[in-house]
Amino acid sequence: MHKTLIQPHGGTLVNRSLYDYERQTAIEYAYTLPQLTLSQRNLADIECIATGVYSPLQGFVNEEDYYNIVNDMHLSNGLAWTIPVTLQIPEMVSDKYKLDTEIALVHPNGDILAVMSITNKFKPDQDYEAEKVYGTTKDAHPGVSVMRAEGEIYLGGSITLINTIPHNDFQNYRLPPTITRAEFTERQWNTIVAFQTRNPIHRAHEYITKIALELVDGLFINPLVGMTKSDDIPANVRMRCYEIMIEKYYPSDRTFLGVFPAAMRYAGPREAIMHAIARQNYGCTHFIVGRDHAGVGSYYGTYDAQHIFNEFGRNELEIVPMKFEHAFYCTRTQAMATAKTSPSTFEERIHLSGTKVREMLANGKTPPTEFTRPEIAKILINQARYASA
Ligand code: ADX
Repeated sequence: MHKTLIQPHGGTLVNRSLYDYERQTAIEYAYTLPQLTLSQRNLADIECIATGVYSPLQGFVNEEDYYNIVNDMHLSNGLAWTIPVTLQIPEMVSDKYKLDTEIALVHPNGDILAVMSITNKFKPDQDYEAEKVYGTTKDAHPGVSVMRAEGEIYLGGSITLINTIPHNDFQNYRLPPTITRAEFTERQWNTIVAFQTRNPIHRAHEYITKIALELVDGLFINPLVGMTKSDDIPANVRMRCYEIMIEKYYPSDRTFLGVFPAAMRYAGPREAIMHAIARQNYGCTHFIVGRDHAGVGSYYGTYDAQHIFNEFGRNELEIVPMKFEHAFYCTRTQAMATAKTSPSTFEERIHLSGTKVREMLANGKTPPTEFTRPEIAKILINQARYASA
């Protein structure tokens, strides 16, 4: 029997899009407003807000929520939320955008996408935000450098989407929570595990996703395709890898692929919570958190993104984290394993990481099958050649 799906975070799936007559009127009105051109990160954020991926957010965070999130990992209404979703502008242009007015949010191509009411305008201490949210003030951290580059002045307020965000890729996989929820219901899945990734699926990813799938009804492969750092593998290359993996190595009736339009922040533990909440909004009951989830460099401990779940009360997050230790190929048992399940010595383990694979590809070497499936290796080698040409 199919049960009702998990509730969105906060109880209601947010929808900040206008339709029909209301939309037409809003479009005409939007042309009369001062315009603000959105960054790549802003574009990803308005898509997530408007479609309910970031429920209960209705817009860019106001000052009170900002400080509650930064200091205490909660919104001012008490709901868990770990990273402030902010609209920032450089101080030198900030006079153009006045408090208690409305503005039009514009795509870099000139299309008006949304209307925003500016209910808050503030200038927080960005070093403090960096330290609290990212655990460092160093600009070498890709999330911190983007945060600073976005601007010093923060505008808070709700948004209304009047035009869909234009995309020319992965149209079939751009599925908002209303659609994924309908799909899970249709498939009669009661328990669904979500897998966040910003890498091609390697053997370690395959191992943990399949262990998770042993325990639930369905697997939602939900790769992040918003802005990533320049040395991450581009989303279009990864999408080909996911399609091939699903076609050849996963059971298609128990696996579902849809993209996560969010921008990557590399905020490690705090981002793991935000990733989990977004997946609850998509209708998932479980969420995979492996080693160094959403990490970069050595800013976070290997399992910090798992430990952070313990900082929230029992009922604060409905989605359940499925935590996995570092997976590797064990030459003794000739199988994928973790230290939990393998008797191997360190020398008998082939550790798999995206970084290691990238290094090999950059040197023109085919990663062994213990690292990655041959079909994936082929795509990645071609991509590495193309990238260096
Ligand atoms: S992430 O930024 O999206 O976390 P990545 O795509 O590498 O990066 O990881 C996707 C998920 O797989 C994360 O939950 C991560 O912790 C997990 N993961 C990646 N590699 C391993 C591994 N070797 N062992 C266990 N978990 C892993």
